[in-house]
Amino acid sequence: MGGGKIVAAALAPHPPHLVYAENPQQNEPVSECGWENLRWAYERMRANLDKLDYDVIVILSPHWQTYVGTHFLGLEKFKSLSVDPVFPNLFRYHYDIDVDVELARLIHDEAAADGLAVKMMENPDFRVDYGTITSCHLTRPQWDKPIVCISSNRARQYYSVEVMQEMTAQLGRATARAIEKSGKRAVVLASNSLSHRHFVSESEVPEDMSKEHITSHHLYLWDMKMIELLRSGRTREAHDMMPEFTEQAASETDSGSLTWLLAALDYPEYEAIVHGYGTIIGTGNAIIEWPCYAQEDSE
Ligand SMILES: [Fe+2]
Repeated sequence: MGGGKIVAAALAPHPPHLVYAENPQQNEPVSECGWENLRWAYERMRANLDKLDYDVIVILSPHWQTYVGTHFLGLEKFKSLSVDPVFPNLFRYHYDIDVDVELARLIHDEAAADGLAVKMMENPDFRVDYGTITSCHLTRPQWDKPIVCISSNRARQYYSVEVMQEMTAQLGRATARAIEKSGKRAVVLASNSLSHRHFVSESEVPEDMSKEHITSHHLYLWDMKMIELLRSGRTREAHDMMPEFTEQAASETDSGSLTWLLAALDYPEYEAIVHGYGTIIGTGNAIIEWPCYAQEDSE
């Protein structure tokens, strides 16, 4: 084997509001509209990814939180109802997910060989987290690609943001090696928001866009700083700034997903495509694509 590669990667945040606003048949609540700037950003990213030939989506989700090691979905199918614990009025989604267990196990084994604590999740009744479902739905609503789903080891909470950085960067490198060995073509997703301070009450109509804005200018400035580094290929700087960004912007990068993604891409220096930025209940969200495929073409 060998010769596998990451054909594209993305920062693909998972606020359930975006699925709610799209009214897919899998989701029970019905909306009028909402958060169009972010939904159109996802649309533009989908148009790019749909042109690619790829086998699998690999995602690390902040909402599958494990405290002892990193876990991987380890059965070929998971089917159930996912209800967002904070927004059950917006997200009651019937999912039916195929898993690429072969690649999941390869990443698991690669990480284990590198000294990381890992485990395959093989409980058929396990409920897949809504972060994974939302990011994958918005990236590929057809659900015709199997996924590899990786948990967020809560090293940030248990130890510190620096330990989280080290562990998830190591996991990112192991992920890239395993994809290469697998011979498969993968799209890799970091499923997190940027600044993550949110309002604590919901407006009467959730999709009332007159109520939607960033919670503070301070957080907006942090988001713009991080986006500028990512966009302009200064991804090592972004990595180095991540601990401070995570603390100061109360960011969902505490999950390690973005650190993992940048390490898996080996810190790209080419420009990333910012498809859009917007807020959801006050949190900052950017949809950013790394067009690895364009680098291949220009080689
Ligand atoms: Fe989240």
